[in-house]
Amino acid sequence: MIAAFTSEWATALARWLGYLGASVLVGVVALRLQRQATESQLNHSRRLVRLAGLALLVAVLARMTQQALLFAAAPEEALAMVGILRGTAWGTAWTVQLLAALAATLLPGAYVKKGLLLALALALMAVLPPAFQGHAFGSEEFMVQAVVADALHLLAAGVWMGTLAVLVIVWLGQASGTRALEFVTAFSPWALTGAATLGVTGVFASWLHVRTPAMVWGSSYGRTLLLKVVLVLAVLALGAVNWKRITPVLLSPGGVARLRTSARTEVAIAVLVFLVTAFLVATSLPGE
Ligand code: HEM
Repeated sequence: MIAAFTSEWATALARWLGYLGASVLVGVVALRLQRQATESQLNHSRRLVRLAGLALLVAVLARMTQQALLFAAAPEEALAMVGILRGTAWGTAWTVQLLAALAATLLPGAYVKKGLLLALALALMAVLPPAFQGHAFGSEEFMVQAVVADALHLLAAGVWMGTLAVLVIVWLGQASGTRALEFVTAFSPWALTGAATLGVTGVFASWLHVRTPAMVWGSSYGRTLLLKVVLVLAVLALGAVNWKRITPVLLSPGGVARLRTSARTEVAIAVLVFLVTAFLVATSLPGE
């Protein structure tokens, strides 16, 4: 039972759930910044915030327990190990994320209705902590640059994919062609900035962790990264289709339905990108 709970799959699934929850929370707040949703529409996001918060809460608690069980010499010592871990950078990162998750679960209005600064702070608390827990933080060279790039990568993933997920789940469902066009027009610059940031920071992290082409083919880290890049290219291709092909005909009959289907597929592939990433960050770096 404990072996299954602390297995590679179980830890990756917990990490994945955390990425999804945090990205949706960032998406909800990014929509506020894009000023494209009215207050009453944002209120409809409350349920989604609560759900995302719950996902993040489960993920953080599971990850803390898994790590404590993996480090403890015996299961009975796991609780004491949680205490020890709480004093480390990992533990601090988890505590910060736990607070953001609790706020989303118990006070979803803090993300959608209360002051924007509070919502921004909570979204950052939800999404940035993994930058202090992965390969970037353990980097022997360029550690500061690696952590900053990783933090930007996480934020950009939330802004781009989180916003799109919220649009698909909450807004596009009932939107008219005109309203959908408003959403897409407001969202496009954010998506472009998010994609560019992900590209630059992703290439930097790839270079940092995989220094030669031989390491790409010759290590399981390199091959997992390659799978991720292929999936990212599919997301990019669909994003380009949405932007260049579907948006211009959005007001014609069937335009919104086409956008909905294409955007849903884009989000579904992005969910897979997060899953592959959840394995990637736990895979030993080439040469380790
Ligand atoms: C849809 C686009 C993308 C999404 C949603 C995404 C998402 C993520 C997330 C959530 C992380 C985890 C960060 C952490 O836990 O600290 C990550 C890490 C990473 N990503 Fe991406 N990413 C995307 C695009 C890219 C691209 C284009 C590349 C490469 C060119 C890339 C390469 C990496 C690398 C190397 C890491 C570090 C993994 C590690 O710590 O070992 N990503 N990405």
